[in-house]
Amino acid sequence: MNPQPPVVDLRSDTVTRPDEAMRRAMATAAVGDDVYREDPTVRELEETMADLLGTESALFMPTGTMGNQVALHVLGKPGSEVVGEASSHIFRFEMGAMAALSGMIPRPVVGDRGQLDPARVEAAINPRLDYIASTALLVVENSHNLGGGTVTNRDQLDRLLAVAQRHRVATHLDGARLFNAAVALDVAPATLVRGFDSVMVALSKGLGAPIGSMLGGSTAFVEEARRVRKMFGGGMRQVGILASAGLEALSRGFGHLAEDHDNARRVALALDRLPGVRCPPASIVTNIVVAVTVDPVATLSLLRRAGLRAIQLGPDSIRCVTHRDAPRELIEVALARLDSIDG
Ligand SMILES: Cc1ncc(COP(=O)(O)O)c(C=O)c1O
Repeated sequence: MNPQPPVVDLRSDTVTRPDEAMRRAMATAAVGDDVYREDPTVRELEETMADLLGTESALFMPTGTMGNQVALHVLGKPGSEVVGEASSHIFRFEMGAMAALSGMIPRPVVGDRGQLDPARVEAAINPRLDYIASTALLVVENSHNLGGGTVTNRDQLDRLLAVAQRHRVATHLDGARLFNAAVALDVAPATLVRGFDSVMVALSKGLGAPIGSMLGGSTAFVEEARRVRKMFGGGMRQVGILASAGLEALSRGFGHLAEDHDNARRVALALDRLPGVRCPPASIVTNIVVAVTVDPVATLSLLRRAGLRAIQLGPDSIRCVTHRDAPRELIEVALARLDSIDG
């Protein structure tokens, strides 16, 4: 019997495990009660992140979903609408939280692979009239997960933010993978944050920390976000143990993300060669590969035989996400195997 090939798990960049250095940082972190603002490691992480994002302040969050939902709660109000891309995480994968927790209404705008057209955004913003719900917020996701890791550059952001400003609508950036976007666009993360009222970034995706996201914004915004985080059950105590993993992840910079992006293009090239699968490598700009396939179940099982795990996204699509626990050598071995199975 043939030995089973090692499995390269490309279901998500959330599957990474903390390495030795990260575990050491966690084991030795200085801690205190963070609800009393007495955890020095959390404070260091929040200051470091605020500097990186170019925001006045930042707040440690257990998850990206909580970061997004706290932002919506602070910036919006019950009965108001949230304009965003139809397939954005906030609309599709946050369990209806904006309605359940904040009484807010999604106003989806269909984009092109996740990219919003400013004219369509403008058309979706309600006029301020006495008989129509007000538009509280515009949300932009950068990079865009379901769009296939696509990125919105500074010019496009300026156009979107100008629309929001014209209509006095607040703006939130879902930057779960902001660092991937910044590396792909070759700009500093803060360049992509400028002009937004709030930003959420994840530590537990491309950066490889086991848990945590950060919410950034003005000092006044973060003060209010701290209160809402507590209300949502996210006030944490000696959480420097987790913040230390985030600091360790940040200390490594983002250079390694470029390798993830390169690996994603290699995966796309191999997928595009499979019969019934379309995945133009030129469309891959970050670490997310969305392939269209006539038979997602068969494609996933073929990948599995080659030693690659991926997920089905929709009725005709699958997704692979590259990350720091999926090194080039292992991916290459699996892709060579995929070629030979196909041949
Ligand atoms: C774009 C985007 N935003 C937000 C989130 C939510 O992050 P979390 O899983 O930490 O709640 C994710 C998670 O995959 C995401 O892809």
